[in-house]
Amino acid sequence: MTTASPMPIASLRNVSKIFDPDGAALVALNQVSLDIAPARLTAVMGSSGSGKSTLMHVLAGLDRPSSGTVHIGEREITALHEDELTALRRRRIGFVFQAFNLMPTLTVRENILLPFELDDRKPDANERAWITSIIKRLGLDERLKHRPGEISGGQQQRTAIARALATRPDILFADEPTGNLDGRSGREVMAIMSEAVRELGQSIVLVTHDPIVAAHADRVVFIADGTPVSELNDTISAEVIAQTMLDLDAQAEAAENASSETSQYAPEVSQYASDGGRR
Ligand SMILES: Nc1ncnc2c1ncn2[C@@H]1O[C@H](COP(=O)(O)OP(=O)(O)OP(=O)(O)O)[C@@H](O)[C@H]1O
Ligand SMILES: [Mg+2]
Repeated sequence: MTTASPMPIASLRNVSKIFDPDGAALVALNQVSLDIAPARLTAVMGSSGSGKSTLMHVLAGLDRPSSGTVHIGEREITALHEDELTALRRRRIGFVFQAFNLMPTLTVRENILLPFELDDRKPDANERAWITSIIKRLGLDERLKHRPGEISGGQQQRTAIARALATRPDILFADEPTGNLDGRSGREVMAIMSEAVRELGQSIVLVTHDPIVAAHADRVVFIADGTPVSELNDTISAEVIAQTMLDLDAQAEAAENASSETSQYAPEVSQYASDGGRR
């Protein structure tokens, strides 16, 4: 039996992102086509420098691709002007940055409510109840009047997560949301995210290095050298994820060895091959 798959909440078509700081072109995303299903938790994994954050920034309209198209729902965001894109991001997209990006002069409460402030509106009764529940669940209720500089890294991380979830965006992107959290806080964050997906139909894409975190996902996409290379779907165990990561590392190493063997015969070819920006 086949069922028609729902319209993706986000999608990339032939997206490349090339950074060119000093004339040395670095291909961070290489012709990526990817559909993100709604009301699902999608995890993105891959080694450091493989392009995960770049992928998230391009999907969320925070950075423009060098080529290719990006859609959020039906809107092609690569076709929008900057002010239209800002409005769409504010209303429909939540983002938890790898480096939290909290406003240092605002309190925890003000940071969490910032998306409403920027949109020039106040949370309604439902939103207030939701915000109160995430604040409590994330253990921030005792810290609401503090500024980011007065709370721990883990509490800053949880404030950034509360802020991104506060407006119930159409899609939430979270770049290593459990990276700075102790085991218990990390589990609480994953419980809230899973609950938002199951009970509110929230769509979430998160980057993680942790197979146990990724095991909460409905789908795990592995990327290497700026392109998706493998994926797992449905019931996914941490063991299978860890094994897939090891297999991909071994494949990458074998490919690297093969290209350095080639170098004995054709130095210019291997130089080209190792120029892909892998760190
Ligand atoms: N603004 C930039 N200018 C130049 N190069 C960049 C820029 N941002 C990222 N890169 C490069 O693009 C590649 C992909 O970076 P990205 O941050 O997406 O990696 P990542 O998979 O998120 O890594 P990590 O796990 O360390 O966070 C890297 O080689 C990185 O150095
Ligand atoms: Mg990153």
